[in-house]
Amino acid sequence: MAILITGGCGYIGSHTCIELLAAGYDIVVVDNYYNAKPEALRRVQELAGKSFPFYECDIRDADGLRRVFREHAIDAVIHFAGLKAVGESVQKPLEYYDNNVGGTVTLCQVMAEFGCKRIVFSSSATVYGMNNPSPLREDMPTGAVTNPYGRTKYVIEEILKDVCVSDPQWTAVLLRYFNPIGAHESGRIGEDPNGIPNNLMPYISQVAIGRLPQLSVFGDDYDTPDGTGVRDYIHVVDLATGHVKAVDYALGHTGAEVFNLGTGVGYSVLDLVKAFEKANGVPVPYVIAPRRPGDIATCYSDPSKAQKVLGWKAVHNVEDMCRDSWRWQSQNPQGYGE
Ligand code: NAD
Ligand code: UFG
Repeated sequence: MAILITGGCGYIGSHTCIELLAAGYDIVVVDNYYNAKPEALRRVQELAGKSFPFYECDIRDADGLRRVFREHAIDAVIHFAGLKAVGESVQKPLEYYDNNVGGTVTLCQVMAEFGCKRIVFSSSATVYGMNNPSPLREDMPTGAVTNPYGRTKYVIEEILKDVCVSDPQWTAVLLRYFNPIGAHESGRIGEDPNGIPNNLMPYISQVAIGRLPQLSVFGDDYDTPDGTGVRDYIHVVDLATGHVKAVDYALGHTGAEVFNLGTGVGYSVLDLVKAFEKANGVPVPYVIAPRRPGDIATCYSDPSKAQKVLGWKAVHNVEDMCRDSWRWQSQNPQGYGE
């Protein structure tokens, strides 16, 4: 029983490979190295003590994907491959629609050709848009998204639901991630953003290690307990175990099903800064800066459906997340290097 992982060299994909191997699944990985380095997979194999087939392939390359499906009996696909920078998506919408939406359509067409009709998809809390109050539940309306990246996630969710309606043999498990942070507790794999990070935790880590002078806190006048934005941070290893449960589920069900993967707890920007300083004993200098356009005040999940249906629950707390982010950053100050 083999699971194909698209984008398996990336941040969430690499952690998920380890948990799938630990759960006894055979895996095959596809990635085009757009936002990843071969060193990540080398370390995954080292940590897991197992090797597995890898194809350097773009998911928009149908013939490349056909080769993978011809050479392996794939039972289900976990589909991480995609571009994910919100700001960049505003500048380069066509690249985002082509890669994320076009890539998913090509992937599903090749899957169908080979009779593989089970997919677990990396969606995002961003599909809930600006108008829903937290805690966010899977049955709330989606689509009021403010940027092309978020729209690709919304559109792909709708495409996969349509595919399931058209053919009752299909299964699509749509996982809406909240804010993944942290790293494998070995400190060997973690998030390795290109250039200056957009997201809060990698920014905090790079300030703490001295690569960046200070954190800008984007707004302290939101309607939240301390005025800074509140998010549902989830340890990437919890997210990875959520994918193992989602694959187990996909192998036994048909139709489309949506799950939030979050902790259900919201932390503000300043909460996270303080938690990081306390967990690691390092200072994180910051200044208050203007709000970042497009940000909302508060976003956290109701994770109860995943607990009830998948039997999954996040087990790591914010201290674990801060400690593991810092272990990765301090042991690998330049990420995976060149
Ligand atoms: P990542 O960039 O680390 O991983 C994505 C991987 O996909 C990279 O290794 C990249 O090289 C690969 N890739 C991109 N386009 C490809 C293509 N056309 N063909 C083959 N490989 C391709 O990102 P991540 O943080 O691990 O995110 C994984 C998925 O989860 C993405 O779809 C992302 O949109 C989604 N997601 C991430 C977050 C987050 O905060 N990290 C939140 C919600 C959803
Ligand atoms: N923030 C700062 N300073 C920074 C970076 C972030 O104050 O340098 C604040 C933001 O304003 C926000 C919070 O930290 O209040 C979290 O910001 P992130 O950029 O880390 O995460 P977002 O919640 O904005 O977005 C993330 C992913 C998106 C995904 C979204 C949905 O980056 O891809 O979660 O949950 F769509």
